[in-house]
Amino acid sequence: MASSSLSVTMIITKFLIFLLITTTVNSTFLIPITDINLLEFPLNLEYFEAEYFLFGSIGQGLDIIEPALAAGGPPPIGAKQANLSLLIKDIITQFGYQEIGHLRAIKKRVRGFPRPLLNLTAEAFGTLMNAAFGMPLTPPFDPYANDINYLISCYVIPYVGLTGYVGANPNLQGPASRELVAGLLGVESGQDAVIRSLLYERANESVVPYNITVGEFTIKISELRNKLGRDGLKDEGLIVPIELGAEKKIQGNVLAGDEDSLAYGRTPQEILRIIYGTGDEQAPGGFYPKGANGVIAKRYLLR
Ligand SMILES: *[C@@H]1O[C@H](CO)[C@@H](O)[C@H](O)[C@H]1NC(C)=O
Ligand SMILES: *[C@@H]1O[C@H](CO)[C@@H](O)[C@H](O)[C@H]1NC(C)=O
Ligand SMILES: *[C@@H]1O[C@H](CO)[C@@H](O)[C@H](O)[C@H]1NC(C)=O
Ligand SMILES: *[C@@H]1O[C@H](CO)[C@@H](O)[C@H](O)[C@H]1NC(C)=O
Repeated sequence: MASSSLSVTMIITKFLIFLLITTTVNSTFLIPITDINLLEFPLNLEYFEAEYFLFGSIGQGLDIIEPALAAGGPPPIGAKQANLSLLIKDIITQFGYQEIGHLRAIKKRVRGFPRPLLNLTAEAFGTLMNAAFGMPLTPPFDPYANDINYLISCYVIPYVGLTGYVGANPNLQGPASRELVAGLLGVESGQDAVIRSLLYERANESVVPYNITVGEFTIKISELRNKLGRDGLKDEGLIVPIELGAEKKIQGNVLAGDEDSLAYGRTPQEILRIIYGTGDEQAPGGFYPKGANGVIAKRYLLR
């Protein structure tokens, strides 16, 4: 009797110690320590999306709307209100507020980090488009000019966040972590689907003043991301060779997916290579002139 109740006590004690070492200070969500870095990493993309959507639609960002979430990080450079129709402005405003929720949801579960410096100038997008086409567009691409340019620019980052959530999920240990990532992935995928549908409707239209269609823009941006990510094909434009279409039966590609139409996943390294625009997780640039924040990104920067 005595020895069995002793061993029960030992088991309970061991379990409590296990809980203690595997959870953060915020015990409400029981996040294993091994998950913390993976959960904070996407804040980098969520900050980008929050600022880009909020500025693009209503002309002000986190510093006015939810300053605490910026946690003292520097304000984004060059973000401004885009010249949008009422419908697109309405949709992008919703996306912007959704990103505030995403930032809050992550920061409720892990400490996270302050907003990184973001380069959201028209030039930063223009540089990316030039890289995508392998030549300078004249005049330079301006994401803020009108609906279609802004939607094309929105094709650039949210999809990368989506692949990051797909890539992170199998590496998470705790149910609360996977619940968070599934919730984020669901809405990010929805945003990507809305952006792609709006672009798909206009896939054959030329983007003024270039003799380049909307569909070609998406193909070139996806090709660039595949090249920068350096891990094969994880990105597809709105129109694909038939071998890449769903069931190899169709060229229209309103959603990207693998041979079973499952979403592609990317590692943090691949994501950093893409969002830095350098193809190198140790070489910041692009939208993140000083690099991304958090343990994972800093580990590569300090090498
Ligand atoms: C922002 O990006 C543009 C285009 O690459 C670059 O010319 C500019 O210097 C960048 N700004 C900062 C502060 O990094
Ligand atoms: C705003 O967009 C509309 C419609 O795309 C366009 O006709 C107009 O010239 C744009 N205005 C500016 C200032 O760029
Ligand atoms: C775009 O053009 C292709 C080829 O002409 C056609 O099959 C497709 O239906 C068009 N798509 C749209 C959205 O108009
Ligand atoms: C526009 O591009 C199409 C197809 O790439 C080409 O056939 C056409 O000649 C181009 N038009 C101009 C004005 O450059």
